[in-house]
Amino acid sequence: MIARDPFAEAPSPSDLAPGVPADAPVAFTIGGRIQVRNRVLAAPICGASKLPFRRLARRWGADIAYTEMVKAYPLVRDDPKTLELLHTTADEAPCGPQICGGDPDTMERAAARLEALGFPLVDINMGCPVRKVVNEGAGAALLRDPAKVEAVTRACARAVSIPVTVKLRSGWDDDGHVDAATLARAAEAGGAALVAIHGRTRAQAHQGAVDFAAMARAKAAVSIPVVGNGGVFTAEAAVVMARETGCDAVMIGRGAFGRPWLFRDVARALAGLPALPPPDDEARCDVMRAHLDGMIALLGERGVLLYRKYAAWYFREAPWGAHFRDRAYRTREVATMTALLDAWRENLAVSRAALAAGAPPPFPALFADDPTLASADPWSGQACDLAAGLE
Ligand SMILES: Cc1cc2nc3c(=O)[nH]c(=O)nc-3n(C[C@H](O)[C@H](O)[C@H](O)COP(=O)(O)O)c2cc1C
Repeated sequence: MIARDPFAEAPSPSDLAPGVPADAPVAFTIGGRIQVRNRVLAAPICGASKLPFRRLARRWGADIAYTEMVKAYPLVRDDPKTLELLHTTADEAPCGPQICGGDPDTMERAAARLEALGFPLVDINMGCPVRKVVNEGAGAALLRDPAKVEAVTRACARAVSIPVTVKLRSGWDDDGHVDAATLARAAEAGGAALVAIHGRTRAQAHQGAVDFAAMARAKAAVSIPVVGNGGVFTAEAAVVMARETGCDAVMIGRGAFGRPWLFRDVARALAGLPALPPPDDEARCDVMRAHLDGMIALLGERGVLLYRKYAAWYFREAPWGAHFRDRAYRTREVATMTALLDAWRENLAVSRAALAAGAPPPFPALFADDPTLASADPWSGQACDLAAGLE
Protein backbone atom coordinates (compact mmCIF):
# COMPACT_ATOMS: atom_id res chain seq x y z
CA MET A 1 0.00 0.00 0.00
CA ILE A 2 2.85 2.35 0.82
CA ALA A 3 5.58 2.95 -1.75
CA ARG A 4 8.89 1.30 -0.94
CA ASP A 5 10.82 3.60 -3.18
CA PRO A 6 10.98 6.89 -1.32
CA PHE A 7 14.23 8.03 -2.86
CA ALA A 8 12.99 7.72 -6.40
CA GLU A 9 14.16 10.62 -8.54
CA ALA A 10 11.84 13.53 -9.10
CA PRO A 11 9.61 13.08 -12.14
CA SER A 12 11.54 13.10 -15.38
CA PRO A 13 11.15 16.32 -17.38
CA SER A 14 8.69 14.66 -19.73
CA ASP A 15 6.41 14.02 -16.73
CA LEU A 16 6.47 17.65 -15.72
CA ALA A 17 3.66 19.95 -16.75
CA PRO A 18 4.45 22.49 -19.47
CA GLY A 19 6.65 25.35 -18.31
CA VAL A 20 7.89 23.73 -15.11
CA PRO A 21 11.65 24.29 -14.92
CA ALA A 22 13.16 20.90 -15.75
CA ASP A 23 16.79 21.52 -14.96
CA ALA A 24 16.84 24.02 -12.11
CA PRO A 25 20.01 23.84 -10.02
CA VAL A 26 19.80 22.47 -6.48
CA ALA A 27 18.89 25.42 -4.24
CA PHE A 28 19.46 23.51 -0.99
CA THR A 29 19.11 20.04 0.45
CA ILE A 30 17.10 18.85 3.41
CA GLY A 31 19.45 17.01 5.69
CA GLY A 32 21.75 16.33 2.76
CA ARG A 33 19.23 13.80 1.41
CA ILE A 34 16.40 15.62 -0.33
CA GLN A 35 17.15 18.11 -3.07
CA VAL A 36 15.08 21.25 -3.37
CA ARG A 37 15.32 22.94 -6.76
CA ASN A 38 12.17 24.93 -7.45
CA ARG A 39 11.92 26.39 -3.96
CA VAL A 40 8.18 25.78 -3.73
CA LEU A 41 6.45 23.24 -1.48
CA ALA A 42 2.82 22.12 -1.21
CA ALA A 43 1.47 22.72 2.32
CA PRO A 44 -0.24 20.06 4.41
CA ILE A 45 -3.99 20.73 4.40
CA CYS A 46 -6.45 18.52 6.27
CA GLY A 47 -9.08 17.26 3.86
CA ALA A 48 -7.27 18.52 0.77
CA SER A 49 -3.74 17.07 0.60
CA LYS A 50 -4.84 13.69 -0.73
CA LEU A 51 -2.58 11.69 -3.03
CA PRO A 52 -4.16 12.85 -6.35
CA PHE A 53 -3.74 16.50 -5.39
CA ARG A 54 -0.20 15.91 -4.16
CA ARG A 55 0.71 14.21 -7.45
CA LEU A 56 -0.65 17.17 -9.37
CA ALA A 57 1.35 19.51 -7.16
CA ARG A 58 4.52 17.55 -7.86
CA ARG A 59 3.81 17.47 -11.60
CA TRP A 60 3.34 21.23 -11.57
CA GLY A 61 6.68 21.77 -9.89
CA ALA A 62 6.29 21.51 -6.10
CA ASP A 63 9.55 20.08 -4.73
CA ILE A 64 7.72 18.26 -1.93
CA ALA A 65 4.03 17.72 -1.30
CA TYR A 66 3.07 17.19 2.33
CA THR A 67 0.28 14.91 3.49
CA GLU A 68 -2.41 16.21 5.77
CA MET A 69 -1.53 15.73 9.42
CA VAL A 70 -2.05 12.37 11.03
CA LYS A 71 -2.13 11.84 14.76
CA ALA A 72 0.87 10.05 16.23
CA TYR A 73 -0.97 7.65 18.51
CA PRO A 74 -3.26 6.05 15.90
CA LEU A 75 -0.27 5.80 13.57
CA VAL A 76 1.78 3.74 16.00
CA ARG A 77 -1.25 1.47 16.39
CA ASP A 78 -1.46 1.04 12.58
CA ASP A 79 -4.98 2.45 12.53
CA PRO A 80 -6.31 1.71 8.99
CA LYS A 81 -7.87 5.17 8.51
CA THR A 82 -4.57 6.80 9.42
CA LEU A 83 -2.65 4.58 7.03
CA GLU A 84 -5.14 5.46 4.30
CA LEU A 85 -4.30 9.17 4.73
CA LEU A 86 -0.64 8.25 4.22
CA HIS A 87 -1.16 6.32 1.01
CA THR A 88 1.56 7.32 -1.43
CA THR A 89 3.09 6.21 -4.72
CA ALA A 90 6.69 6.17 -5.90
CA ASP A 91 6.04 8.82 -8.54
CA GLU A 92 5.12 11.47 -5.97
CA ALA A 93 8.37 11.03 -4.02
CA PRO A 94 9.48 12.88 -2.05
CA CYS A 95 6.19 12.95 -0.14
CA GLY A 96 6.32 14.57 3.29
CA PRO A 97 4.13 12.83 5.85
CA GLN A 98 3.12 15.04 8.77
CA ILE A 99 2.56 13.81 12.31
CA CYS A 100 0.91 15.60 15.18
CA GLY A 101 1.34 14.91 18.87
CA GLY A 102 2.74 16.36 22.06
CA ASP A 103 4.14 13.29 23.81
CA PRO A 104 7.80 12.78 22.86
CA ASP A 105 7.67 9.00 23.35
CA THR A 106 4.68 8.54 21.07
CA MET A 107 6.14 10.95 18.53
CA GLU A 108 9.39 9.00 18.57
CA ARG A 109 7.53 5.79 17.77
CA ALA A 110 5.41 7.52 15.11
CA ALA A 111 8.52 8.91 13.40
CA ALA A 112 10.09 5.44 13.39
CA ARG A 113 6.90 4.04 11.91
CA LEU A 114 7.01 6.57 9.06
CA GLU A 115 10.59 5.63 8.25
CA ALA A 116 9.65 1.94 8.33
CA LEU A 117 6.81 2.68 5.92
CA GLY A 118 9.39 4.01 3.49
CA PHE A 119 8.91 7.77 3.68
CA PRO A 120 11.90 10.01 2.95
CA LEU A 121 11.24 12.54 5.74
CA VAL A 122 9.14 13.18 8.83
CA ASP A 123 7.34 16.49 9.33
CA ILE A 124 6.06 17.58 12.74
CA ASN A 125 2.92 19.70 13.07
CA MET A 126 3.46 22.53 15.54
CA GLY A 127 0.78 24.83 14.23
CA CYS A 128 -2.65 23.20 14.28
CA PRO A 129 -4.90 25.74 16.04
CA VAL A 130 -7.87 23.43 16.64
CA ARG A 131 -8.86 23.50 20.33
CA LYS A 132 -9.14 19.72 20.71
CA VAL A 133 -5.60 19.27 19.35
CA VAL A 134 -4.18 22.12 21.44
CA ASN A 135 -5.87 20.78 24.60
CA GLU A 136 -4.01 17.51 24.06
CA GLY A 137 -0.73 19.48 24.16
CA ALA A 138 -0.17 18.98 20.42
CA GLY A 139 -0.09 21.21 17.33
CA ALA A 140 0.04 24.91 18.17
CA ALA A 141 0.24 24.14 21.92
CA LEU A 142 3.97 23.62 21.40
CA LEU A 143 4.36 27.25 20.35
CA ARG A 144 4.11 28.25 24.01
CA ASP A 145 6.95 25.98 25.07
CA PRO A 146 10.27 26.08 23.19
CA ALA A 147 11.70 23.37 25.47
CA LYS A 148 8.93 21.06 24.29
CA VAL A 149 9.54 22.03 20.66
CA GLU A 150 13.10 20.88 21.16
CA ALA A 151 12.15 17.71 23.07
CA VAL A 152 9.56 16.55 20.53
CA THR A 153 11.88 17.31 17.62
CA ARG A 154 14.76 15.49 19.32
CA ALA A 155 12.60 12.46 20.07
CA CYS A 156 11.65 12.19 16.39
CA ALA A 157 15.15 12.92 15.10
CA ARG A 158 16.79 10.25 17.26
CA ALA A 159 14.29 7.66 16.07
CA VAL A 160 15.07 7.96 12.36
CA SER A 161 17.89 8.33 9.87
CA ILE A 162 15.73 10.41 7.48
CA PRO A 163 15.44 14.19 7.90
CA VAL A 164 12.92 15.65 10.34
CA THR A 165 11.23 18.92 9.39
CA VAL A 166 9.07 21.10 11.63
CA LYS A 167 6.12 23.29 10.67
CA LEU A 168 5.72 26.20 13.06
CA ARG A 169 3.71 29.37 13.27
CA SER A 170 5.08 32.83 13.99
CA GLY A 171 3.92 32.35 17.60
CA TRP A 172 0.99 31.60 19.88
CA ASP A 173 -0.36 35.15 19.87
CA ASP A 174 1.14 38.55 19.27
CA ASP A 175 2.18 39.26 22.85
CA GLY A 176 5.64 38.27 21.68
CA HIS A 177 6.55 36.06 24.68
CA VAL A 178 7.85 33.28 22.45
CA ASP A 179 8.70 34.40 18.97
CA ALA A 180 9.41 32.53 15.78
CA ALA A 181 13.19 32.93 16.13
CA THR A 182 13.18 31.21 19.53
CA LEU A 183 10.95 28.43 18.21
CA ALA A 184 13.06 27.90 15.09
CA ARG A 185 16.20 27.77 17.22
CA ALA A 186 14.59 25.18 19.50
CA ALA A 187 13.63 23.04 16.50
CA GLU A 188 17.16 23.28 15.12
CA ALA A 189 18.64 22.37 18.51
CA GLY A 190 16.37 19.30 18.56
CA GLY A 191 17.76 18.16 15.22
CA ALA A 192 15.34 19.59 12.64
CA ALA A 193 16.74 19.71 9.11
CA LEU A 194 14.30 22.44 8.00
CA VAL A 195 11.61 24.62 9.53
CA ALA A 196 8.56 25.97 7.75
CA ILE A 197 6.98 29.02 9.31
CA HIS A 198 3.35 29.95 8.74
CA GLY A 199 3.59 33.66 9.43
CA ARG A 200 0.41 33.84 11.46
CA THR A 201 -0.07 33.19 15.16
CA ARG A 202 -2.35 30.55 16.61
CA ALA A 203 -4.69 33.39 17.60
CA GLN A 204 -5.01 34.37 13.93
CA ALA A 205 -5.71 30.78 12.81
CA HIS A 206 -5.79 31.01 9.00
CA GLN A 207 -6.73 34.63 8.39
CA GLY A 208 -5.09 38.04 8.72
CA ALA A 209 -1.74 39.60 7.99
CA VAL A 210 1.32 37.41 7.58
CA ASP A 211 4.25 38.53 9.74
CA PHE A 212 7.25 38.77 7.40
CA ALA A 213 9.41 40.34 10.13
CA ALA A 214 8.94 37.32 12.41
CA MET A 215 9.85 34.99 9.56
CA ALA A 216 12.94 37.08 8.76
CA ARG A 217 14.05 36.90 12.42
CA ALA A 218 13.64 33.13 12.37
CA LYS A 219 15.64 32.89 9.17
CA ALA A 220 18.44 34.93 10.71
CA ALA A 221 18.42 32.81 13.89
CA VAL A 222 19.14 29.39 12.37
CA SER A 223 21.44 27.82 9.82
CA ILE A 224 18.98 25.20 8.53
CA PRO A 225 16.70 26.10 5.57
CA VAL A 226 13.63 28.14 6.45
CA VAL A 227 10.43 27.94 4.40
CA GLY A 228 7.93 30.81 4.41
CA ASN A 229 4.20 30.14 4.35
CA GLY A 230 0.97 32.08 4.47
CA GLY A 231 -1.16 34.06 2.05
CA VAL A 232 0.74 33.25 -1.16
CA PHE A 233 -1.96 33.31 -3.85
CA THR A 234 0.17 34.63 -6.74
CA ALA A 235 3.71 34.25 -8.03
CA GLU A 236 4.31 37.92 -7.23
CA ALA A 237 3.34 37.33 -3.59
CA ALA A 238 5.88 34.50 -3.39
CA VAL A 239 8.63 36.76 -4.71
CA VAL A 240 7.72 39.44 -2.15
CA MET A 241 7.74 36.86 0.67
CA ALA A 242 11.15 35.53 -0.38
CA ARG A 243 12.57 39.03 -0.68
CA GLU A 244 11.13 40.36 2.61
CA THR A 245 11.96 37.32 4.75
CA GLY A 246 15.03 35.83 3.10
CA CYS A 247 13.32 32.43 3.26
CA ASP A 248 14.86 29.63 1.23
CA ALA A 249 11.56 28.42 -0.25
CA VAL A 250 7.86 29.20 -0.19
CA MET A 251 5.08 26.85 0.89
CA ILE A 252 1.64 27.21 -0.69
CA GLY A 253 -1.67 26.02 0.73
CA ARG A 254 -5.01 27.49 -0.36
CA GLY A 255 -3.58 29.43 -3.30
CA ALA A 256 -3.16 26.19 -5.25
CA PHE A 257 -6.73 24.96 -4.70
CA GLY A 258 -8.16 24.47 -8.17
CA ARG A 259 -5.01 25.76 -9.83
CA PRO A 260 -1.98 23.58 -9.16
CA TRP A 261 -0.14 25.46 -11.91
CA LEU A 262 0.56 28.10 -9.23
CA PHE A 263 3.52 25.91 -8.18
CA ARG A 264 4.95 26.30 -11.67
CA ASP A 265 4.30 30.04 -11.69
CA VAL A 266 6.03 30.45 -8.32
CA ALA A 267 8.98 28.25 -9.33
CA ARG A 268 9.47 30.34 -12.47
CA ALA A 269 9.11 33.66 -10.67
CA LEU A 270 11.58 32.68 -7.94
CA ALA A 271 14.03 31.56 -10.65
CA GLY A 272 13.64 34.87 -12.49
CA LEU A 273 12.04 33.16 -15.51
CA PRO A 274 9.32 34.96 -17.49
CA ALA A 275 5.72 34.36 -16.45
CA LEU A 276 3.57 32.06 -18.60
CA PRO A 277 -0.14 32.42 -19.30
CA PRO A 278 -2.35 30.10 -17.26
CA PRO A 279 -3.26 26.80 -18.93
CA ASP A 280 -6.08 27.11 -21.46
CA ASP A 281 -9.57 25.73 -20.85
CA GLU A 282 -8.78 22.33 -22.34
CA ALA A 283 -5.65 21.93 -20.22
CA ARG A 284 -7.51 23.00 -17.08
CA CYS A 285 -10.25 20.48 -17.84
CA ASP A 286 -7.60 17.80 -18.28
CA VAL A 287 -6.21 18.68 -14.84
CA MET A 288 -9.68 18.49 -13.28
CA ARG A 289 -10.31 15.17 -14.91
CA ALA A 290 -6.94 13.70 -13.89
CA HIS A 291 -7.71 14.80 -10.34
CA LEU A 292 -11.14 13.12 -10.37
CA ASP A 293 -9.74 9.93 -11.92
CA GLY A 294 -7.09 9.87 -9.20
CA MET A 295 -9.68 10.23 -6.44
CA ILE A 296 -11.76 7.41 -7.92
CA ALA A 297 -8.72 5.18 -8.32
CA LEU A 298 -7.77 5.85 -4.70
CA LEU A 299 -11.14 5.69 -2.98
CA GLY A 300 -13.81 4.52 -5.44
CA GLU A 301 -17.23 6.19 -5.05
CA ARG A 302 -16.08 7.76 -1.78
CA GLY A 303 -13.51 9.58 -3.89
CA VAL A 304 -16.39 11.30 -5.70
CA LEU A 305 -17.75 12.65 -2.42
CA LEU A 306 -14.35 13.99 -1.44
CA TYR A 307 -13.80 15.38 -4.93
CA ARG A 308 -16.82 17.67 -4.63
CA LYS A 309 -14.93 20.44 -2.89
CA TYR A 310 -12.09 20.21 -5.39
CA ALA A 311 -14.65 20.50 -8.20
CA ALA A 312 -15.98 23.64 -6.57
CA TRP A 313 -12.51 25.18 -6.64
CA TYR A 314 -12.05 24.33 -10.31
CA PHE A 315 -15.47 25.78 -11.20
CA ARG A 316 -14.31 29.30 -10.44
CA GLU A 317 -14.04 32.41 -12.55
CA ALA A 318 -16.15 31.20 -15.49
CA PRO A 319 -19.81 31.57 -16.50
CA TRP A 320 -22.22 29.26 -14.68
CA GLY A 321 -19.43 28.25 -12.27
CA ALA A 322 -21.55 28.68 -9.13
CA HIS A 323 -24.33 26.53 -10.61
CA PHE A 324 -21.89 23.79 -11.57
CA ARG A 325 -20.57 24.02 -8.02
CA ASP A 326 -24.06 23.45 -6.60
CA ARG A 327 -24.52 20.46 -8.89
CA ALA A 328 -21.16 19.02 -7.82
CA TYR A 329 -22.18 19.19 -4.16
CA ARG A 330 -25.28 17.12 -4.96
CA THR A 331 -23.35 14.50 -6.93
CA ARG A 332 -22.45 11.11 -5.45
CA GLU A 333 -21.86 8.75 -8.37
CA VAL A 334 -18.83 8.33 -10.59
CA ALA A 335 -20.86 8.55 -13.82
CA THR A 336 -22.69 11.73 -12.77
CA MET A 337 -19.49 13.49 -11.72
CA THR A 338 -17.70 12.55 -14.95
CA ALA A 339 -20.72 13.80 -16.93
CA LEU A 340 -20.61 17.04 -14.96
CA LEU A 341 -16.96 17.55 -15.88
CA ASP A 342 -17.74 16.82 -19.54
CA ALA A 343 -20.55 19.37 -19.42
CA TRP A 344 -18.19 21.91 -17.84
CA ARG A 345 -15.69 21.41 -20.67
CA GLU A 346 -18.49 22.00 -23.18
CA ASN A 347 -19.77 25.00 -21.19
CA LEU A 348 -16.33 26.65 -21.25
CA ALA A 349 -16.02 26.18 -25.01
CA VAL A 350 -19.46 27.55 -25.91
CA SER A 351 -19.28 30.36 -23.32
CA ARG A 352 -15.93 31.51 -24.63
CA ALA A 353 -17.19 31.46 -28.23
CA ALA A 354 -20.34 33.39 -27.26
CA LEU A 355 -18.41 36.00 -25.30
CA ALA A 356 -15.98 36.45 -28.20
CA ALA A 357 -18.98 37.15 -30.44
CA GLY A 358 -20.36 39.66 -27.92
CA ALA A 359 -23.22 37.34 -26.86
CA PRO A 360 -24.08 36.19 -23.33
CA PRO A 361 -22.91 32.72 -22.24
CA PRO A 362 -25.63 30.26 -23.34
CA PHE A 363 -27.68 28.27 -20.85
CA PRO A 364 -26.01 24.85 -20.29
CA ALA A 365 -28.18 22.00 -21.54
CA LEU A 366 -27.30 20.12 -18.35
CA PHE A 367 -29.50 22.49 -16.34
CA ALA A 368 -32.60 22.06 -18.53
CA ASP A 369 -34.08 19.80 -15.82
CA ASP A 370 -34.10 22.68 -13.32
CA PRO A 371 -36.66 25.39 -14.17
CA THR A 372 -35.44 27.56 -11.28
CA LEU A 373 -32.21 28.15 -13.22
CA ALA A 374 -33.93 29.34 -16.41
CA SER A 375 -33.52 32.98 -15.44
CA ALA A 376 -30.29 32.54 -13.44
CA ASP A 377 -27.35 34.87 -13.84
CA PRO A 378 -24.38 32.98 -15.34
CA TRP A 379 -22.00 35.13 -13.33
CA SER A 380 -23.70 34.93 -9.94
CA GLY A 381 -21.85 33.55 -6.93
CA GLN A 382 -18.42 33.62 -8.51
CA ALA A 383 -16.71 34.32 -5.21
CA CYS A 384 -15.70 31.05 -3.63
CA ASP A 385 -14.23 30.79 -0.15
CA LEU A 386 -11.15 28.63 -0.63
CA ALA A 387 -11.30 27.14 2.85
CA ALA A 388 -15.06 26.49 2.72
CA GLY A 389 -16.06 22.98 3.57
CA LEU A 390 -12.65 22.06 4.91
CA GLU A 391 -12.64 23.02 8.55
C1 LIG B 1 -8.57 23.77 6.15
C2 LIG B 1 -7.12 23.82 6.51
C3 LIG B 1 -6.50 22.67 6.95
C4 LIG B 1 -5.15 22.68 7.32
N1 LIG B 1 -4.53 21.53 7.72
C5 LIG B 1 -3.22 21.58 8.08
C6 LIG B 1 -2.52 20.39 8.49
O1 LIG B 1 -3.06 19.27 8.49
N2 LIG B 1 -1.23 20.53 8.88
C7 LIG B 1 -0.58 21.74 8.87
O2 LIG B 1 0.59 21.82 9.24
N3 LIG B 1 -1.19 22.84 8.46
C8 LIG B 1 -2.49 22.79 8.06
N4 LIG B 1 -3.09 23.92 7.60
C9 LIG B 1 -2.31 25.15 7.47
C10 LIG B 1 -1.70 25.23 6.07
O3 LIG B 1 -0.72 24.24 5.88
C11 LIG B 1 -1.04 26.60 5.86
O4 LIG B 1 -0.06 26.78 6.85
C12 LIG B 1 -2.03 27.74 5.94
O5 LIG B 1 -3.20 27.46 5.19
C13 LIG B 1 -1.41 29.04 5.44
O6 LIG B 1 -0.99 28.90 4.10
P1 LIG B 1 -1.88 29.47 2.87
O7 LIG B 1 -2.25 30.87 3.24
O8 LIG B 1 -0.98 29.33 1.69
O9 LIG B 1 -3.11 28.59 2.78
C14 LIG B 1 -4.42 23.90 7.24
C15 LIG B 1 -5.05 25.05 6.76
C16 LIG B 1 -6.38 25.03 6.38
C17 LIG B 1 -7.04 26.28 5.87
